Amino acid sequence: MAIHRYCCVPFLLASLFIPFVCAEIRFTEIRHDNRPIIPFDEFGFTHTGHLELNVSKIRLSNPNPDLDMSKVGFFLCTRDAWMQVLLQLEDGYIDCALNSDFVKLVFEFKSLKGKSSFNTVKKENNADQYTLVFANCLNKVTVSMNVRSAMYNLDGKGKSRDYLSAGRTILPRVYFLFALVYFTLAGIWIYVLYIKRDTVFMIHFFMLAVVILKAINLLCEAEDMSYIKRTGSAHGWDVLFYIFSFLKGVMLFTLIVLIGTGWSFLKPYLQDKEKKVLMIVIPLQVIANVAQIVIDETGPFGHDWMVWKQVFLLVDVVCCCAVLFPIVWSIKNLREAAKTDGKAAVNLMKLTLFRQYYIVVICYIYFTRVVVYALVTITSYKYLWTSVVAGEFATLAFYVFTGYKFKPEPHNPYFMIDDDEEEAAAEQLRLEDEFEL
Ligand SMILES: *[C@@H]1O[C@H](CO)[C@@H](O)[C@H](O)[C@H]1NC(C)=O
Repeated sequence: MAIHRYCCVPFLLASLFIPFVCAEIRFTEIRHDNRPIIPFDEFGFTHTGHLELNVSKIRLSNPNPDLDMSKVGFFLCTRDAWMQVLLQLEDGYIDCALNSDFVKLVFEFKSLKGKSSFNTVKKENNADQYTLVFANCLNKVTVSMNVRSAMYNLDGKGKSRDYLSAGRTILPRVYFLFALVYFTLAGIWIYVLYIKRDTVFMIHFFMLAVVILKAINLLCEAEDMSYIKRTGSAHGWDVLFYIFSFLKGVMLFTLIVLIGTGWSFLKPYLQDKEKKVLMIVIPLQVIANVAQIVIDETGPFGHDWMVWKQVFLLVDVVCCCAVLFPIVWSIKNLREAAKTDGKAAVNLMKLTLFRQYYIVVICYIYFTRVVVYALVTITSYKYLWTSVVAGEFATLAFYVFTGYKFKPEPHNPYFMIDDDEEEAAAEQLRLEDEFEL
Protein backbone atom coordinates (compact mmCIF):
# COMPACT_ATOMS: atom_id res chain seq x y z
CA MET A 1 0.00 0.00 0.00
CA ALA A 2 1.50 3.27 -1.03
CA ILE A 3 -1.27 5.59 0.07
CA HIS A 4 -0.57 5.68 3.77
CA ARG A 5 2.84 7.23 3.38
CA TYR A 6 1.82 10.83 2.78
CA CYS A 7 0.22 11.41 6.09
CA CYS A 8 1.45 13.71 8.80
CA VAL A 9 3.90 16.33 7.62
CA PRO A 10 1.49 19.00 6.39
CA PHE A 11 -0.24 19.22 9.76
CA LEU A 12 2.95 20.36 11.43
CA LEU A 13 3.46 23.05 8.82
CA ALA A 14 0.00 24.39 9.50
CA SER A 15 0.87 25.08 13.11
CA LEU A 16 3.28 27.81 12.13
CA PHE A 17 0.79 30.33 10.84
CA ILE A 18 -2.49 30.12 12.60
CA PRO A 19 -3.89 33.57 13.07
CA PHE A 20 -6.08 34.37 15.98
CA VAL A 21 -9.14 36.49 15.64
CA CYS A 22 -10.90 36.83 18.92
CA ALA A 23 -13.49 39.41 19.55
CA GLU A 24 -14.99 39.33 22.95
CA ILE A 25 -14.66 41.95 25.62
CA ARG A 26 -11.50 40.77 27.26
CA PHE A 27 -10.19 41.19 30.81
CA THR A 28 -6.51 40.59 31.29
CA GLU A 29 -4.34 40.83 34.34
CA ILE A 30 -0.76 41.67 33.55
CA ARG A 31 1.59 40.99 36.46
CA HIS A 32 5.26 42.07 36.66
CA ASP A 33 5.56 41.66 32.94
CA ASN A 34 8.83 42.69 31.30
CA ARG A 35 7.90 41.83 27.71
CA PRO A 36 8.66 44.85 25.48
CA ILE A 37 5.65 43.99 23.30
CA ILE A 38 2.43 42.37 24.50
CA PRO A 39 -0.09 41.65 21.72
CA PHE A 40 -3.75 41.65 22.71
CA ASP A 41 -6.69 40.73 20.52
CA GLU A 42 -6.88 41.15 16.79
CA PHE A 43 -10.04 42.56 15.29
CA GLY A 44 -11.41 43.44 11.85
CA PHE A 45 -12.79 46.96 11.89
CA THR A 46 -15.29 48.30 9.40
CA HIS A 47 -15.33 52.05 8.91
CA THR A 48 -17.34 52.34 12.15
CA GLY A 49 -14.76 50.57 14.32
CA HIS A 50 -14.33 51.40 18.00
CA LEU A 51 -11.85 50.37 20.64
CA GLU A 52 -12.79 50.87 24.27
CA LEU A 53 -9.90 50.49 26.65
CA ASN A 54 -10.15 50.62 30.45
CA VAL A 55 -6.93 50.06 32.30
CA SER A 56 -6.62 50.13 36.07
CA LYS A 57 -4.17 49.33 38.87
CA ILE A 58 -1.22 50.36 36.75
CA ARG A 59 2.02 49.83 38.62
CA LEU A 60 5.57 50.04 37.29
CA SER A 61 8.37 48.23 39.09
CA ASN A 62 10.37 51.47 39.05
CA PRO A 63 8.17 54.38 40.18
CA ASN A 64 10.86 56.96 39.40
CA PRO A 65 9.00 60.05 38.02
CA ASP A 66 11.90 60.86 35.66
CA LEU A 67 11.23 57.82 33.48
CA ASP A 68 10.26 58.66 29.90
CA MET A 69 6.65 57.55 29.99
CA SER A 70 6.12 58.24 26.31
CA LYS A 71 7.88 54.92 25.80
CA VAL A 72 5.07 52.97 27.42
CA GLY A 73 1.60 52.71 25.96
CA PHE A 74 -1.02 51.07 23.80
CA PHE A 75 -1.38 51.26 20.04
CA LEU A 76 -3.28 49.66 17.16
CA CYS A 77 -1.37 48.20 14.26
CA THR A 78 -2.14 46.22 11.12
CA ARG A 79 0.07 43.32 10.14
CA ASP A 80 1.57 45.11 7.16
CA ALA A 81 2.28 48.18 9.24
CA TRP A 82 3.94 45.97 11.84
CA MET A 83 6.43 44.78 9.23
CA GLN A 84 7.30 48.42 8.51
CA VAL A 85 7.70 49.12 12.21
CA LEU A 86 10.05 46.18 12.58
CA LEU A 87 12.14 47.49 9.67
CA GLN A 88 12.27 50.94 11.22
CA LEU A 89 13.38 49.45 14.55
CA GLU A 90 16.03 47.40 12.81
CA ASP A 91 17.40 50.42 10.96
CA GLY A 92 17.59 52.37 14.21
CA TYR A 93 15.24 54.97 12.69
CA ILE A 94 13.07 54.76 15.83
CA ASP A 95 13.87 53.28 19.22
CA CYS A 96 10.35 52.36 20.24
CA ALA A 97 7.38 51.04 18.27
CA LEU A 98 5.25 53.75 19.86
CA ASN A 99 7.21 56.43 17.98
CA SER A 100 6.54 54.99 14.53
CA ASP A 101 4.14 56.80 12.18
CA PHE A 102 2.84 53.42 11.05
CA VAL A 103 1.07 52.70 14.34
CA LYS A 104 -2.13 54.29 15.56
CA LEU A 105 -1.51 55.50 19.05
CA VAL A 106 -4.25 54.73 21.56
CA PHE A 107 -2.74 55.83 24.85
CA GLU A 108 0.69 56.91 26.07
CA PHE A 109 1.43 56.48 29.74
CA LYS A 110 2.81 60.00 29.92
CA SER A 111 -0.83 61.17 29.82
CA LEU A 112 -1.44 59.30 33.07
CA LYS A 113 0.02 62.21 35.05
CA GLY A 114 0.49 60.13 38.16
CA LYS A 115 -2.88 58.39 38.06
CA SER A 116 -3.04 54.61 38.12
CA SER A 117 -5.92 54.09 35.71
CA PHE A 118 -7.45 55.45 32.52
CA ASN A 119 -10.43 54.92 30.24
CA THR A 120 -10.40 55.75 26.58
CA VAL A 121 -12.37 55.17 23.41
CA LYS A 122 -10.70 55.28 20.03
CA LYS A 123 -12.70 55.46 16.81
CA GLU A 124 -11.13 53.87 13.77
CA ASN A 125 -12.58 54.79 10.40
CA ASN A 126 -10.03 53.03 8.22
CA ALA A 127 -11.47 49.60 7.69
CA ASP A 128 -8.74 47.03 8.29
CA GLN A 129 -7.68 44.32 10.66
CA TYR A 130 -5.86 45.69 13.69
CA THR A 131 -4.11 44.20 16.65
CA LEU A 132 -4.15 45.96 19.98
CA VAL A 133 -0.57 46.04 21.24
CA PHE A 134 1.05 47.17 24.45
CA ALA A 135 4.63 48.40 24.17
CA ASN A 136 7.04 48.91 27.04
CA CYS A 137 10.33 50.26 25.74
CA LEU A 138 11.80 50.98 29.17
CA ASN A 139 14.64 48.69 30.07
CA LYS A 140 14.25 46.56 33.17
CA VAL A 141 10.93 48.05 34.16
CA THR A 142 8.12 45.58 34.65
CA VAL A 143 4.46 46.49 34.40
CA SER A 144 1.38 45.31 36.30
CA MET A 145 -2.12 46.34 35.29
CA ASN A 146 -5.66 45.18 34.72
CA VAL A 147 -6.78 45.63 31.14
CA ARG A 148 -10.32 45.56 29.82
CA SER A 149 -10.47 45.87 26.08
CA ALA A 150 -13.53 45.84 23.86
CA MET A 151 -13.45 46.20 20.10
CA TYR A 152 -16.63 46.50 18.10
CA ASN A 153 -18.16 47.92 14.95
CA LEU A 154 -21.40 49.85 14.89
CA ASP A 155 -24.08 48.30 12.73
CA GLY A 156 -25.60 49.93 9.65
CA LYS A 157 -27.75 52.41 11.54
CA GLY A 158 -24.92 53.22 13.91
CA LYS A 159 -26.94 52.26 16.95
CA SER A 160 -26.04 48.81 18.20
CA ARG A 161 -22.61 47.32 18.67
CA ASP A 162 -21.37 44.28 16.81
CA TYR A 163 -18.63 42.58 18.80
CA LEU A 164 -17.74 40.15 16.04
CA SER A 165 -14.83 40.98 13.79
CA ALA A 166 -15.73 42.18 10.28
CA GLY A 167 -15.14 38.82 8.58
CA ARG A 168 -16.97 36.81 11.22
CA THR A 169 -20.11 38.76 11.74
CA ILE A 170 -22.24 36.49 9.54
CA LEU A 171 -20.92 33.31 11.15
CA PRO A 172 -23.87 32.84 13.54
CA ARG A 173 -26.13 32.57 10.48
CA VAL A 174 -23.71 30.23 8.73
CA TYR A 175 -23.57 27.89 11.73
CA PHE A 176 -27.32 27.99 12.09
CA LEU A 177 -27.84 27.02 8.44
CA PHE A 178 -25.38 24.13 8.75
CA ALA A 179 -27.14 23.01 11.93
CA LEU A 180 -30.40 22.86 9.95
CA VAL A 181 -28.67 20.81 7.25
CA TYR A 182 -27.44 18.29 9.84
CA PHE A 183 -30.85 18.05 11.50
CA THR A 184 -32.27 17.30 8.04
CA LEU A 185 -29.58 14.66 7.50
CA ALA A 186 -30.45 13.14 10.86
CA GLY A 187 -34.10 13.02 9.77
CA ILE A 188 -33.20 11.35 6.48
CA TRP A 189 -30.97 8.86 8.32
CA ILE A 190 -33.76 7.94 10.75
CA TYR A 191 -36.01 7.37 7.75
CA VAL A 192 -33.38 5.15 6.08
CA LEU A 193 -32.90 3.17 9.28
CA TYR A 194 -36.64 2.68 9.52
CA ILE A 195 -37.05 1.57 5.88
CA LYS A 196 -34.10 -0.83 6.07
CA ARG A 197 -34.61 -1.89 9.66
CA ASP A 198 -33.86 -5.54 8.83
CA THR A 199 -30.29 -4.81 7.85
CA VAL A 200 -29.41 -2.17 10.45
CA PHE A 201 -26.31 -2.68 12.57
CA MET A 202 -25.28 -1.04 15.85
CA ILE A 203 -22.89 1.19 13.97
CA HIS A 204 -25.78 2.85 12.16
CA PHE A 205 -27.22 4.10 15.43
CA PHE A 206 -23.78 5.32 16.35
CA MET A 207 -23.68 7.26 13.09
CA LEU A 208 -27.05 8.78 13.90
CA ALA A 209 -25.74 9.90 17.29
CA VAL A 210 -22.72 11.55 15.66
CA VAL A 211 -24.89 13.47 13.19
CA ILE A 212 -27.24 14.67 15.93
CA LEU A 213 -24.31 15.73 18.12
CA LYS A 214 -22.81 17.61 15.19
CA ALA A 215 -26.12 19.41 14.64
CA ILE A 216 -26.47 20.35 18.31
CA ASN A 217 -22.85 21.43 18.42
CA LEU A 218 -23.41 23.78 15.47
CA LEU A 219 -26.57 25.12 17.05
CA CYS A 220 -24.69 25.90 20.28
CA GLU A 221 -21.92 27.55 18.31
CA ALA A 222 -24.44 29.67 16.41
CA GLU A 223 -26.10 30.74 19.66
CA ASP A 224 -22.77 31.30 21.41
CA MET A 225 -21.52 33.51 18.59
CA SER A 226 -24.70 35.49 18.17
CA TYR A 227 -24.65 36.15 21.92
CA ILE A 228 -21.06 37.35 21.67
CA LYS A 229 -22.02 39.45 18.66
CA ARG A 230 -24.68 41.26 20.67
CA THR A 231 -23.05 41.52 24.10
CA GLY A 232 -19.35 40.89 23.70
CA SER A 233 -19.34 38.03 26.18
CA ALA A 234 -20.22 34.37 26.01
CA HIS A 235 -22.40 33.71 29.04
CA GLY A 236 -22.99 30.03 29.40
CA TRP A 237 -23.52 29.13 25.78
CA ASP A 238 -19.83 28.54 25.45
CA VAL A 239 -20.02 25.86 28.16
CA LEU A 240 -22.70 23.99 26.23
CA PHE A 241 -20.70 24.46 23.07
CA TYR A 242 -17.58 22.99 24.68
CA ILE A 243 -19.51 20.03 26.07
CA PHE A 244 -21.00 19.17 22.70
CA SER A 245 -17.71 19.83 20.92
CA PHE A 246 -16.10 17.35 23.25
CA LEU A 247 -18.79 14.70 22.79
CA LYS A 248 -18.81 15.23 19.04
CA GLY A 249 -15.00 15.01 18.84
CA VAL A 250 -14.84 11.78 20.81
CA MET A 251 -17.77 10.21 18.97
CA LEU A 252 -16.51 11.19 15.53
CA PHE A 253 -13.04 9.79 16.07
CA THR A 254 -14.51 6.66 17.64
CA LEU A 255 -16.81 6.29 14.66
CA ILE A 256 -13.98 6.64 12.17
CA VAL A 257 -12.03 3.96 14.07
CA LEU A 258 -15.05 1.65 14.34
CA ILE A 259 -15.90 1.95 10.66
CA GLY A 260 -12.22 1.54 9.85
CA THR A 261 -12.06 -1.73 11.78
CA GLY A 262 -15.17 -2.96 10.07
CA TRP A 263 -16.80 -3.42 13.44
CA SER A 264 -20.38 -4.65 13.21
CA PHE A 265 -20.27 -4.94 9.39
CA LEU A 266 -17.42 -7.37 9.00
CA LYS A 267 -17.06 -8.67 12.54
CA PRO A 268 -18.82 -8.29 15.88
CA TYR A 269 -15.72 -7.73 18.01
CA LEU A 270 -12.63 -5.53 18.13
CA GLN A 271 -9.08 -6.86 18.11
CA ASP A 272 -6.75 -5.85 20.92
CA LYS A 273 -4.70 -3.52 18.77
CA GLU A 274 -7.86 -1.83 17.56
CA LYS A 275 -9.01 -1.31 21.13
CA LYS A 276 -5.62 0.20 21.86
CA VAL A 277 -6.14 2.78 19.12
CA LEU A 278 -9.41 3.77 20.78
CA MET A 279 -7.70 3.90 24.17
CA ILE A 280 -5.16 6.32 22.72
CA VAL A 281 -7.55 8.45 20.71
CA ILE A 282 -10.22 9.03 23.35
CA PRO A 283 -7.97 10.42 26.13
CA LEU A 284 -6.11 12.49 23.52
CA GLN A 285 -9.42 14.01 22.48
CA VAL A 286 -9.98 14.99 26.11
CA ILE A 287 -6.62 16.76 26.13
CA ALA A 288 -7.31 18.39 22.76
CA ASN A 289 -10.59 19.79 24.05
CA VAL A 290 -9.04 21.13 27.25
CA ALA A 291 -6.34 22.80 25.15
CA GLN A 292 -8.95 24.26 22.84
CA ILE A 293 -10.83 25.77 25.77
CA VAL A 294 -7.68 27.30 27.24
CA ILE A 295 -6.71 28.70 23.82
CA ASP A 296 -10.14 30.27 23.28
CA GLU A 297 -10.47 31.68 26.75
CA THR A 298 -7.03 33.21 27.24
CA GLY A 299 -6.26 34.76 23.87
CA PRO A 300 -2.84 35.22 22.34
CA PHE A 301 -1.39 37.45 25.06
CA GLY A 302 -1.21 34.67 27.67
CA HIS A 303 2.25 33.34 28.41
CA ASP A 304 1.21 29.75 27.80
CA TRP A 305 -1.00 30.39 24.82
CA MET A 306 1.56 29.14 22.32
CA VAL A 307 2.27 26.06 24.43
CA TRP A 308 -1.41 25.11 24.51
CA LYS A 309 -1.71 25.78 20.80
CA GLN A 310 1.15 23.38 20.17
CA VAL A 311 -0.30 20.79 22.54
CA PHE A 312 -3.58 20.99 20.67
CA LEU A 313 -1.95 20.59 17.27
CA LEU A 314 0.27 17.75 18.38
CA VAL A 315 -2.63 15.85 19.91
CA ASP A 316 -4.78 16.50 16.88
CA VAL A 317 -2.09 15.22 14.53
CA VAL A 318 -1.60 12.08 16.64
CA CYS A 319 -5.36 11.41 16.67
CA CYS A 320 -5.63 11.95 12.94
CA CYS A 321 -2.76 9.58 12.23
CA ALA A 322 -3.97 6.99 14.76
CA VAL A 323 -7.40 6.65 13.17
CA LEU A 324 -5.79 5.66 9.88
CA PHE A 325 -4.18 2.51 11.28
CA PRO A 326 -7.36 0.45 11.72
CA ILE A 327 -8.34 1.19 8.13
CA VAL A 328 -4.95 0.06 6.89
CA TRP A 329 -5.23 -3.12 8.98
CA SER A 330 -8.68 -3.81 7.57
CA ILE A 331 -7.43 -3.37 4.04
CA LYS A 332 -4.61 -5.78 4.76
CA ASN A 333 -6.94 -8.36 6.32
CA LEU A 334 -9.33 -8.15 3.40
CA ARG A 335 -6.50 -8.76 0.98
CA GLU A 336 -5.38 -11.80 2.94
CA ALA A 337 -8.92 -13.10 3.12
CA ALA A 338 -9.42 -12.59 -0.60
CA LYS A 339 -6.52 -14.92 -1.32
CA THR A 340 -7.64 -17.67 1.01
CA ASP A 341 -11.41 -17.91 1.22
CA GLY A 342 -12.12 -18.05 -2.49
CA LYS A 343 -14.66 -15.23 -2.51
CA ALA A 344 -12.48 -12.78 -4.37
CA ALA A 345 -15.28 -10.67 -5.81
CA VAL A 346 -17.00 -9.97 -2.51
CA ASN A 347 -13.72 -9.22 -0.84
CA LEU A 348 -12.68 -6.98 -3.68
CA MET A 349 -15.87 -4.97 -3.25
CA LYS A 350 -15.17 -4.54 0.45
CA LEU A 351 -11.56 -3.78 -0.28
CA THR A 352 -12.49 -1.06 -2.73
CA LEU A 353 -14.88 0.39 -0.19
CA PHE A 354 -12.24 0.49 2.53
CA ARG A 355 -9.67 2.01 0.20
CA GLN A 356 -12.10 4.72 -0.78
CA TYR A 357 -12.85 5.31 2.86
CA TYR A 358 -9.16 5.58 3.63
CA ILE A 359 -8.63 8.18 0.91
CA VAL A 360 -11.70 10.11 1.98
CA VAL A 361 -10.62 10.16 5.65
CA ILE A 362 -7.23 11.50 4.60
CA CYS A 363 -8.82 14.13 2.37
CA TYR A 364 -11.19 15.12 5.17
CA ILE A 365 -8.39 15.45 7.70
CA TYR A 366 -6.15 17.24 5.25
CA PHE A 367 -8.84 19.65 4.17
CA THR A 368 -10.17 20.53 7.62
CA ARG A 369 -6.72 20.82 9.21
CA VAL A 370 -4.46 22.19 6.50
CA VAL A 371 -6.45 23.70 3.64
CA VAL A 372 -8.76 25.57 6.01
CA TYR A 373 -5.82 27.10 7.90
CA ALA A 374 -4.15 28.01 4.64
CA LEU A 375 -7.40 29.65 3.50
CA VAL A 376 -7.55 31.62 6.74
CA THR A 377 -4.08 32.99 6.11
CA ILE A 378 -4.54 33.90 2.47
CA THR A 379 -8.05 35.33 2.51
CA SER A 380 -8.60 38.91 3.49
CA TYR A 381 -9.90 39.41 7.03
CA LYS A 382 -13.21 40.55 5.51
CA TYR A 383 -13.83 37.11 4.06
CA LEU A 384 -12.68 35.05 7.00
CA TRP A 385 -16.06 33.32 7.08
CA THR A 386 -15.30 31.69 3.72
CA SER A 387 -12.74 29.39 5.31
CA VAL A 388 -15.30 28.34 7.94
CA VAL A 389 -17.81 27.62 5.18
CA ALA A 390 -15.20 25.64 3.22
CA GLY A 391 -14.34 23.58 6.31
CA GLU A 392 -17.99 22.92 7.08
CA PHE A 393 -18.68 21.87 3.50
CA ALA A 394 -15.76 19.46 3.63
CA THR A 395 -17.09 18.04 6.88
CA LEU A 396 -20.57 17.77 5.42
CA ALA A 397 -19.21 15.97 2.36
CA PHE A 398 -17.37 13.55 4.63
CA TYR A 399 -20.51 12.80 6.66
CA VAL A 400 -22.59 12.32 3.53
CA PHE A 401 -19.97 10.04 1.94
CA THR A 402 -19.68 7.94 5.10
CA GLY A 403 -23.44 7.69 5.44
CA TYR A 404 -23.95 6.83 1.79
CA LYS A 405 -21.20 4.23 1.53
CA PHE A 406 -21.95 2.50 4.82
CA LYS A 407 -25.71 2.73 4.73
CA PRO A 408 -27.69 -0.32 5.81
CA GLU A 409 -27.92 -2.68 2.89
CA PRO A 410 -28.96 -6.27 2.43
CA HIS A 411 -25.66 -8.13 2.52
CA ASN A 412 -26.26 -10.57 -0.27
CA PRO A 413 -23.80 -9.59 -2.94
CA TYR A 414 -22.99 -13.35 -3.12
CA PHE A 415 -26.06 -13.95 -5.23
CA MET A 416 -25.39 -11.16 -7.63
CA ILE A 417 -21.94 -12.24 -8.64
CA ASP A 418 -21.45 -14.70 -11.42
CA ASP A 419 -18.38 -16.73 -12.19
CA ASP A 420 -16.97 -14.30 -14.73
CA GLU A 421 -16.94 -11.51 -12.21
CA GLU A 422 -15.42 -13.80 -9.64
CA GLU A 423 -12.62 -14.69 -12.01
CA ALA A 424 -12.04 -11.08 -13.00
CA ALA A 425 -11.80 -10.09 -9.34
CA ALA A 426 -9.36 -12.87 -8.55
CA GLU A 427 -7.28 -11.82 -11.53
CA GLN A 428 -7.25 -8.20 -10.38
CA LEU A 429 -6.14 -9.16 -6.87
CA ARG A 430 -3.39 -11.32 -8.32
CA LEU A 431 -2.20 -8.49 -10.56
CA GLU A 432 -2.12 -6.11 -7.61
CA ASP A 433 0.04 -8.55 -5.71
CA GLU A 434 2.51 -8.86 -8.56
CA PHE A 435 2.61 -5.13 -8.97
CA GLU A 436 3.43 -4.71 -5.33
CA LEU A 437 6.19 -7.33 -5.29
C1 LIG B 1 -14.49 52.14 29.85
O1 LIG B 1 -14.21 53.41 29.31
C2 LIG B 1 -15.25 54.00 28.55
C3 LIG B 1 -14.73 55.30 27.99
O2 LIG B 1 -14.35 56.19 28.95
C4 LIG B 1 -16.48 54.19 29.46
O3 LIG B 1 -17.55 54.73 28.70
C5 LIG B 1 -16.90 52.84 30.01
O4 LIG B 1 -17.97 52.98 30.91
C6 LIG B 1 -15.72 52.19 30.72
N1 LIG B 1 -16.11 50.84 31.12
C7 LIG B 1 -15.85 50.32 32.32
C8 LIG B 1 -16.31 48.94 32.55
O5 LIG B 1 -15.24 50.94 33.17
